[in-house]
Amino acid sequence: MFKTRLTEMLGIECPIVAGGMRDISRAEFVAAVSDAGALGILDSSRFKTAEALREEIKKTQSLTDKPFGINITLFPWGDAELNDRFIEVLVEEGVRAVETSGFRGPGEFVERLRNGNVKLIHKVAAVKHAVAAEREGADAVTIVGFEQGGALGREDATTFTLVPRTVDEVKIPVLAGGGIGDARGLVAALALGAEGVVMGTRLLATKECMVHPAFKEWMVQAKETDLAIIGRSVGRKSRVIRNKATAEIMELEAKGASGDELLPLFERSAPSVMQDGDVVDGRGGCGQVVGLVHGIVSVKELINSMVEEAFALRKRLDGMLPTS
Ligand SMILES: Cc1cc2nc3c(=O)[nH]c(=O)nc-3n(C[C@H](O)[C@H](O)[C@H](O)COP(=O)(O)O)c2cc1C
Repeated sequence: MFKTRLTEMLGIECPIVAGGMRDISRAEFVAAVSDAGALGILDSSRFKTAEALREEIKKTQSLTDKPFGINITLFPWGDAELNDRFIEVLVEEGVRAVETSGFRGPGEFVERLRNGNVKLIHKVAAVKHAVAAEREGADAVTIVGFEQGGALGREDATTFTLVPRTVDEVKIPVLAGGGIGDARGLVAALALGAEGVVMGTRLLATKECMVHPAFKEWMVQAKETDLAIIGRSVGRKSRVIRNKATAEIMELEAKGASGDELLPLFERSAPSVMQDGDVVDGRGGCGQVVGLVHGIVSVKELINSMVEEAFALRKRLDGMLPTS
């Protein structure tokens, strides 16, 4: 099997982490990922109380005895007190790892997580933030490239450049995210110096993921060119599917619309691609690796195929690389 500092640190079989996805990474999906030998990450953002998160942790523990983690996205508008309670609860419940991300560093959580023997993986989109996360005490850092789904970093730097740059700058294990959908991406990330990968988009099109079946079907047909970026003008950059709803926002942005005009259009009350399956009028998206989604499989089938194909790739590389 695989052996990296990440697999050793977390006690997992494959160096694959299913990055937390807002509203999507729920118990059944997370347990399926962890059961397959990777690390599932529960989304905490949909819980209004720490006790509700505790229930979800217990539910996940009832579905798998493998390690899993919790994502805490540090939104500027987030509830710092609630995040503190989340930390307390996840330490009490013996959760193995925390994935933090967002607009702040993870320093405030380090001591409590370390005392609770919880590993901290901080996710960033810029090398300087990876360096800061190491300085603040993160156990590992994920660097995500511009290809990724969800919210995007300020710079448009890509995974292929960011991963080796980060590996050169920090000593802690680096995970690569953004654009990884199969064993080729995984092996390439390891070659770039990463010790694991974070995947989001490819895992959306799995049987266990709760997103609407119509969106999964859309993903199977879609290419990397079927996505667009909105929110650049108001600092809320995200990669979304190209549809009627997106075109409206892009038109407004091109005309120089203000934040007050644009932000209501990003609100959650809009029809959603993920929950409602409204791929025409809905809002939502995924990463460019959607172009590599050719079918809806179970999480186990996906992870197993990545492990098998990584083995085959190793043989292919053996035949291509110098032997002395
Ligand atoms: C629909 C969607 C929602 C996401 N929500 C979050 C989130 O709430 N917090 C977070 O840290 N990352 C979020 N991400 C990013 C993923 O955790 C992961 O870093 C990313 O998907 C990896 O790149 P990929 O999409 O190219 O695989 C989201 C990604 C997607 C596709």
